[in-house]
Amino acid sequence: MQNKSAKMKEPIKGFSKLSKAAKLEWLVNNNFDNADEAREVMTTYWHSDAELQQRHDEFIENTISNYYMPYGVAPNFKINGKLYTIPMAIEESSVVAAASKSAGFWLERGGFTAEVLSTEKIGHVHFMYEGDATALFEDFDALELDLRTATAELVANMEARGGGISSIKIVDATDRLSNYYQIEVTFETCDSMGANFINSNLEEMAKSLEAFAHNHPKLNGENLEVVMRILSNYTPKCLVRASVSCPIEDLASEGVSSEEFARKFKRAVDIANAEPYRATTHNKGIMNGIDAVIIATGNDFRAVEAACHRHASRSGSYKSLTGCTVENGIFTFWIEIPLALGVVGGLTKLHPLVVRSLEMLGKPNAEELMGIVAVSGLAQNFAALRALVTTGIQKGHMKMHLMNILTQLEATPEEKIHIANHFKDKVPHHREVVNYFCQFRGIPVPKVEK
Ligand code: MEV
Repeated sequence: MQNKSAKMKEPIKGFSKLSKAAKLEWLVNNNFDNADEAREVMTTYWHSDAELQQRHDEFIENTISNYYMPYGVAPNFKINGKLYTIPMAIEESSVVAAASKSAGFWLERGGFTAEVLSTEKIGHVHFMYEGDATALFEDFDALELDLRTATAELVANMEARGGGISSIKIVDATDRLSNYYQIEVTFETCDSMGANFINSNLEEMAKSLEAFAHNHPKLNGENLEVVMRILSNYTPKCLVRASVSCPIEDLASEGVSSEEFARKFKRAVDIANAEPYRATTHNKGIMNGIDAVIIATGNDFRAVEAACHRHASRSGSYKSLTGCTVENGIFTFWIEIPLALGVVGGLTKLHPLVVRSLEMLGKPNAEELMGIVAVSGLAQNFAALRALVTTGIQKGHMKMHLMNILTQLEATPEEKIHIANHFKDKVPHHREVVNYFCQFRGIPVPKVEK
């Protein structure tokens, strides 16, 4: 379909080298019907503190403006006996409300438990070797010594913090791809997410591997080709488990008996384990909670998403990230996920809101943050399933959405209060809100576009 407002675009060379002002001018003049209006919107979101704006500009290339996202908090999370107020950056209207509801529910039932099961991360030198690679395996001890020597300086700092390289092995992956081998390295990166540390080490190791092959009498250096040196975002050895548990009779919920609620809730998890279509939505709801905290604390939500979805499919079929049992009168609900997080490095000192998020959480170390994030995923899933197996989600969702509709309609604060009150006990479907708004304001109801 032809977009009326699309202009014929010419490619531009050297865009990244232009000043921010010149980039903005090029952008608004070549991509919008009304350049003045577009410029106004882009610049409205600039921070009034020029130094702070400059810091944001430098996070990425070609920064033009800032993209605001709501930053909310969910109080009353009791985790391992300690109370937290959890910061969440997310645009979806019902997520913080759901988190807060779950927090309150479990606060009265002993709170959440979180336990870090492991903290190691993995990276690879992916390489090809044509011909007989036996010597790489036979003389691996010598190769490992070279790899460790090559990285000793890089690792020293991390070792002083209690981390470093836990193990190095060589993997024959030729059954998956001919001539394909790996140096697989396991790292302990303490309070940092560790991507830079891991990748720097792997790059040094790759050089050392090449030199080893060149100097070894039984290997031909020309036959070895390093293809990539990169951490893996799949972190099955960096696992955290969070859970809640209570006697079934304490579960009574939204007009449904405790027994029925527990039974249906477990069924909902069973369905997510049996049906990938449902598992995808089920896990999406979990990631609502996880991503929001990951973003608020300056961590990498893409990495966490990738790891969690890989974990969800570890059996060969895509399943639920949460589990549930109803046994001997006890309801137990848990999540076990890989989470590679950092509380030092990256944005943690640079983004003022990230600094505040970590302070709000009591300046946790990486392990404590893993527990908090896992709990927020579990809480989100609990809220979603609780609504789904009882009243349905539309009631809660649409209530939060009502304000967005009213904002779109440019309702005044007084109109918002009155209309919110009118829809207090009703599901505020879009059309009904528009109709009621128009009626209340005394203006004609717009025709529905076909
Ligand atoms: C919406 O963002 C998330 C839910 O669909 C999750 C679920 O269905 O479990 C409510």
